[in-house]
Amino acid sequence: MPTAEQMWHIFPKESEIPPEWVLHEPEEQSEYLIGGELRRWSGPREKVYSPICLLEDKGPAPKYLGSYPLLTRKEALEALSAAVEAYDSGQGVWPTMPVKERIQHMERFAYCLSQKRDAVVKLLMWEIGKSTVDSAAEFDRTVKYIRDTIDALKELDRNSSRFVIDSGIVAQIRRAPLGVTLCMGPFNYPLNETFTTLIPALLMGNTALVKPAKFGVLLNRPLLEAFRDCFPKGVVNFVYGDGREVISPLMQSGQIDALAFIGSSRVADLLKMQHPKLHRLRAVLGLGAKNPAIILPSADLDLAVRECILGTLSFNGQRCTALKILFVHRSVADVFVSKFCESVLRLPFGMPWIDKVAITPLPEPGKPEILADYVSDAEKTGARVVNPGGGAIYKTFFYPAVLYPVNSRARIYHEEQFGPLVPIVPFSSIEEPTRYIIESVYGQQLSIFGSESTEIAKLLDPAVNQVCRVNLNSQCQRGPDTFPFTGRKDSAYGTLSVSDALKVFSIRTLVAAKLNDLNKTILNDIVNNHRSKFLSHDFIL
Ligand code: G3H
Repeated sequence: MPTAEQMWHIFPKESEIPPEWVLHEPEEQSEYLIGGELRRWSGPREKVYSPICLLEDKGPAPKYLGSYPLLTRKEALEALSAAVEAYDSGQGVWPTMPVKERIQHMERFAYCLSQKRDAVVKLLMWEIGKSTVDSAAEFDRTVKYIRDTIDALKELDRNSSRFVIDSGIVAQIRRAPLGVTLCMGPFNYPLNETFTTLIPALLMGNTALVKPAKFGVLLNRPLLEAFRDCFPKGVVNFVYGDGREVISPLMQSGQIDALAFIGSSRVADLLKMQHPKLHRLRAVLGLGAKNPAIILPSADLDLAVRECILGTLSFNGQRCTALKILFVHRSVADVFVSKFCESVLRLPFGMPWIDKVAITPLPEPGKPEILADYVSDAEKTGARVVNPGGGAIYKTFFYPAVLYPVNSRARIYHEEQFGPLVPIVPFSSIEEPTRYIIESVYGQQLSIFGSESTEIAKLLDPAVNQVCRVNLNSQCQRGPDTFPFTGRKDSAYGTLSVSDALKVFSIRTLVAAKLNDLNKTILNDIVNNHRSKFLSHDFIL
């Protein structure tokens, strides 16, 4: 439990920051990447403050991190023109480049990215308050994702490097790019989840506009030169600024062919609806979620508590895959709640560089107060905070609150909290969590904790038609990245995994011919003399 003293001292003095995490100079970014050029911006800028406060004479104040350009509609449209020109109706250098060569560009980028690890990880930690260990893990996972995507593309390309013959028709079927992609990632994984759409989009031959997440903008700065140097001009462009100013004109132009967005369904709808030809827009969306855990009477409670702690509170519960409501059978609820609260008590909290830290300051302005409102609303409907110190607030820090017993009249029962707040609902009949899953507007994942296979199997079959991943005695999560990541209802549109993402950002295209002597001669001539990049037996090793 945080004592008042501990809370008061949660934020360090500048001199107490470990040397390796000191940010020596603010990142004053005036450059932005459009059309292969790092242009200078002299207009208004957005100042960036960290969720981490530093103790000054007058008390703790958010650390100033730097600033970035607040571009306008004009620059956004210039970025769009650069991407449209680079795509050139599918005739550009990048979309027509042989897959093997595109891979070489991406390999060079992966190398340049890995050279910037320290700078990016440090900014990631400062900008969103993610622990140093998790910030480094996000970076490493992203580099691995690039390498795995390259391998998946090689395999995809190998599988399509031959002709198929059916019903007297011969064809070569490959995947072709879609056009200009707009990639927008979320603030909780600003590097990884932006790149998990950007990288496959690029590898498939699309050109891209990247709008960094609302927090986690500056961390892209060390990568701008690599994007400029590793890809032909206009293939990757960055837009910065207010969404209404810079994103609306892009969508309204009708020139965005694919939208990759990870955030709320409200914003996704707003973006999509601005496109004048909706049927032309391919969208891949990662949206909200309210993943439940069901703890059955037969559950190993120690294991369930361990996984539910990870599921609810890793990175302060700021994961779309977080467990956001726990249904616990009444027969084990008291023991579960007490073990859960003991574990919360043992969680290290404070600054991102503290050993094994789990709870850190929150980047969203006003978030502690929003979470406090959920707490008082739940208290009015019969729940109480059952962990010592739960819900204590100091500046940007919110100490986790475990709410029990929560019922359907509380807002937290239905709404996604995206923070360190754990509602626990006792149930007597399995009907209650089952109805919850069916009636929920979300449909991403579910965790079931139990040890009796018949009991689990009974839940499994209805559950898999409501959510897209059922986790047994394990927290919900996206990884490994080779597994499909998606959701039903308001939780997602389209599937992402290393191999699925390549398919999402491309379309199957074929060259087909009736199998007669004339066509055989033409096809043989084209293939044997390497006259086409599409129609080819070239095999990437
Ligand atoms: O925010 C949502 C992320 O996709 C979650 O990924 O389960 O690996 O933390 P994760």
